Amino acid sequence: MTATDTTDTTLRTVTLNVNGQTIHQQVEPRTLLAYALRDAGLKGTHVGCDTSSCGCCVVLLDGDTPAKSCTMFAVQAEGHQITTVEGLGGPGNLHPLQQAFWDQHGLQCGYCTPGMLMTAKAMLEHNPDPTDQEVREFLSGNLCRCTGYNNIVKAVQQAARVMRDEAQAQALAGMVPGTDPSTGTAGGGAQ
Ligand code: FES
Ligand code: FES
Repeated sequence: MTATDTTDTTLRTVTLNVNGQTIHQQVEPRTLLAYALRDAGLKGTHVGCDTSSCGCCVVLLDGDTPAKSCTMFAVQAEGHQITTVEGLGGPGNLHPLQQAFWDQHGLQCGYCTPGMLMTAKAMLEHNPDPTDQEVREFLSGNLCRCTGYNNIVKAVQQAARVMRDEAQAQALAGMVPGTDPSTGTAGGGAQ
């Protein structure tokens, strides 16, 4: 029997690193990562098709690689750093992408949104200043059945601008002696 034998229903424990936390989860060898995450309470990872078509289930592997978690077995994810939408941000601490989807009405039912956010996050890691066409191409594996894509593109572009501005402010702060690059404020000892 192999690790991916679909007739093997023996439960085993996988150790997953998700959003910086270690999770031990009982899974069958055939359990898909999407279901292991959801069974662990991370319901932000949605399953829309189970056939690698919709992109609702995208998570990040090792920070910047988008992966459809319905195409991976949970056992294959061991040893990787997994980021789900819960690790992106939350109420009171929204990631610029989450804020931008809110501002630009980039969602209606929201079912596709976690996958859109995670895919867009990966794109902006590699291409912080994309054209609209590049956004559309990178998100072409993510389907939305209700919003339409124009507002999603606008949202990604808003987030890209915010993230570029933040990166520039951090870089400038790092060039000013006595400035804390993490906050952009004057550093120095206790007054
Ligand atoms: Fe994974 Fe649709 S559920 S691509
Ligand atoms: Fe409904 Fe995209 S917002 S599927």
